[in-house]
Amino acid sequence: MANQSIPSTTVRFSSGIDIPLELHKVRVVQKLYLLPIEERLRAIREAGFNSFLLSTRDTYLDMLTDSGCNAMSDRQHAAMMVADDAYAGSQSYDRMAAKVLELFGKQFILPVHQGRAAENIVSRAFVRPGHHIPMNYHFTTTKAHIELNGGTLHEIYTDEALKVKSDHPFKGNMDIEKLRKLIAEVGTSVIPFIRLEASTNLIGGQPFSMENMRQVREVADQTGLMIVLDASLIGENAWFIKQREEGYSQKSMGDIIGEMSDLADLVYFSARKLSSSRGGVICTAKEELYEQMRDLVPLYEGFLTYGGMSVREIEAMAVGLEETLDDQMICQSPSFIDYFVRKVDSLGIPVVTPAGALGAHIDAGSFLSHLPQNDYPAGALVAAFYLVSGIRGMERGTISSVRLDDGSDMLADIELMRLAFPRRVFTLSQVEYAVDRLHWLYRNRELVGGLEWDLEPKVLRFFVGRLKAKGDWPERLMAKFRADFGDSL
Ligand code: F0G
Repeated sequence: MANQSIPSTTVRFSSGIDIPLELHKVRVVQKLYLLPIEERLRAIREAGFNSFLLSTRDTYLDMLTDSGCNAMSDRQHAAMMVADDAYAGSQSYDRMAAKVLELFGKQFILPVHQGRAAENIVSRAFVRPGHHIPMNYHFTTTKAHIELNGGTLHEIYTDEALKVKSDHPFKGNMDIEKLRKLIAEVGTSVIPFIRLEASTNLIGGQPFSMENMRQVREVADQTGLMIVLDASLIGENAWFIKQREEGYSQKSMGDIIGEMSDLADLVYFSARKLSSSRGGVICTAKEELYEQMRDLVPLYEGFLTYGGMSVREIEAMAVGLEETLDDQMICQSPSFIDYFVRKVDSLGIPVVTPAGALGAHIDAGSFLSHLPQNDYPAGALVAAFYLVSGIRGMERGTISSVRLDDGSDMLADIELMRLAFPRRVFTLSQVEYAVDRLHWLYRNRELVGGLEWDLEPKVLRFFVGRLKAKGDWPERLMAKFRADFGDSL
């Protein structure tokens, strides 16, 4: 890996082990519940073996997502107290807009209530039936909004992107040759924009390089196309560039984020991820693009100085954006993920490498290689892991996919269990606990069976669908847990 250095918050212990230190102290705490395994079996059954339907009252570590779950700083909470309540012309908005301009260098700014709201506005403004949208990879809500407006997605990832085991530093890169080929095939008149997603979520939080983004810009300039950047995880992508790309180790986070933003025509983000707050923003330096989107904001979101957000969220966002420039803050989550991934990898547990942003991704297809894809190995692994640990992960496999017209499942490219590491939320002993219980489950993986549908919704079935275990494997797994751990939780 080019220029790979140790994160600045990782220290070497006298034993020679590298430990990612927490560079924050805990001043507000929330009680967690670690229930006995019998209670967890009741909870996961009541939840239809779907981790989205579990209550946090039954969950020990909530690793479902980082979205809206990152810890806010003392400065963010303080800023929320001085928020300026006003329907129009709020000073809170001015403070946030100034930070957006500082980070992204784009002065035309539209506030929205969250990331998918930005996707709604961008898609309604620019996507028409018959349009084609090239991107490094889709995100679920992006795909839904583009398709709702009649567009077709083209995922133009490199051969490395879907390899579970890899040491490629930038698996989120776009394949430039395939991009040129697609543009030549369909023609520029039906391509409203090229979309790049920073720290590409659904392939394991994998970043793209600045060099790759520059090459995409070159293609865009040659063909007259615009680039839309999903910057929801731009802090982490910038940090990976600083860590992994030649020539960037001495650059500041601000310089790197600014350079990425300069290469895009339009930037949007979910502030539930970027800035550890809530809400979202669209920004551009081009007035004509702004004008195409502006009138949709009062229609779908709210007035132009709040966009569906509370002023308190807007204040927290302003401070959170500023704190994104602190690489010691941004690297907290990726360095914990890296620590976790290295540990489970060394134990022989199949996990996506290199470690990315947002979470660790366990390869459920290999973990439960005795299960066919139609038995939903990723969903079964999430349910089994909750049962043996109280930790709630997210299924990112065939359950998150759809049914084809012939009634069969559209099998996912890859069956993953995502364990999110929200920023500054967990301690290292909690991470060690997650490693330990996952290791135990791996040694007992033969006991885990498949899932089948009980109640399957037609749309976005993974959110509220209910499943059941095929056979009595949860009881047998629980019996083995009790035999090995005695009375321990
Ligand atoms: N873009 C990316 C890259 C995302 O990861 C998300 C959300 C969105 C857009 C939508 O933003 O949730 O504010 O509407 N990702 C969350 C996750 C849901 O769990 O990964 P939103």
